[in-house]
Amino acid sequence: MKIVVIGGTGLIGSKVVQKLGADGHEAVAASPNSGVNSVTGEGLAEVLNGASMVVDVTNSPSWEDTEVLKFFETSTRNLLACGAAAGVRHHVALSVVGTERLLASGFFRAKMAQENLIKGSSIPYTIVRATQFFEFIKGIADFSTEGNKVRLPSALIQPMAADDVASGVARTAVGSAVNGTVEIGGPEQLHLDELARRYLAARKDPREVITDPHARYYGIEVNERTLLPGDGARLGETRFADWLKSPASLPPAAKPQSAAATATKRV
Ligand SMILES: NC(=O)c1ccc[n+]([C@@H]2O[C@H](COP(=O)([O-])OP(=O)(O)OC[C@H]3O[C@@H](n4cnc5c(N)ncnc54)[C@H](OP(=O)(O)O)[C@@H]3O)[C@@H](O)[C@H]2O)c1
Repeated sequence: MKIVVIGGTGLIGSKVVQKLGADGHEAVAASPNSGVNSVTGEGLAEVLNGASMVVDVTNSPSWEDTEVLKFFETSTRNLLACGAAAGVRHHVALSVVGTERLLASGFFRAKMAQENLIKGSSIPYTIVRATQFFEFIKGIADFSTEGNKVRLPSALIQPMAADDVASGVARTAVGSAVNGTVEIGGPEQLHLDELARRYLAARKDPREVITDPHARYYGIEVNERTLLPGDGARLGETRFADWLKSPASLPPAAKPQSAAATATKRV
């Protein structure tokens, strides 16, 4: 079964390709680096020739409101048009839990537009909505930093390891299309401020996390439950404390060679 992973060189995409390959599928990683550009259309028809499934785990290089909307709309339209022409039987895209509650942000308006295009297409589909990745916590802290202080609300969040996200996406890709949305999340609910505090402490980052009920998540006002998945979400196994101790939590340059190789073999 040929499965084309658009964005197959990214954080999630590279893991999805490995997992599908390990299960005996022909998984093709496609991205601008391999001559496939879902925005310009370059190389798309060629790579989708003979494909049964498309997994879209792309991300926009720019998160500026207009740019990110243009990216997800154009990319998704091209993928759906070329996928339909190639006879693709299942289109899977990775989105974010709570997207409809986060529309104050241009990024989430773009993800919503992506989801709506997929829902309106003729190709059977599954949208996988994941909670925030552990690997993304540093980005959340950086966005909320002023000087040496990180201001965050104590809203609940149920983050998950990128490895578990990729398992959920790969499993979905080889399953039947649900023509709807499935949610995946982490095994435990944590408070956003505490999560950042624990992450920064583990990395010996001197920034201080201030709990501020008026602080925003990526510029968006959130309440206690905005970021949480629903009751039916399928949960990953990796707990935050275990991930923090693992090589997966280190920035790529800091990963010991042998540990990185072991981690790669494990997935
Ligand atoms: N961060 C979170 O916590 C979170 C939570 C839930 C869902 N998500 C979603 O997960 C998805 C994947 O995230 P990620 O962190 O794995 O992204 P990432 O590491 O930034 O990877 C993005 C991938 O998209 C590719 N790409 C960029 N422009 C492209 C184009 N024009 N044509 C084809 N491919 C292109 C990149 O290729 P190159 O390497 O060649 O540039 C790369 O392979 C995103 O859609 C995001 O919304 C994220």
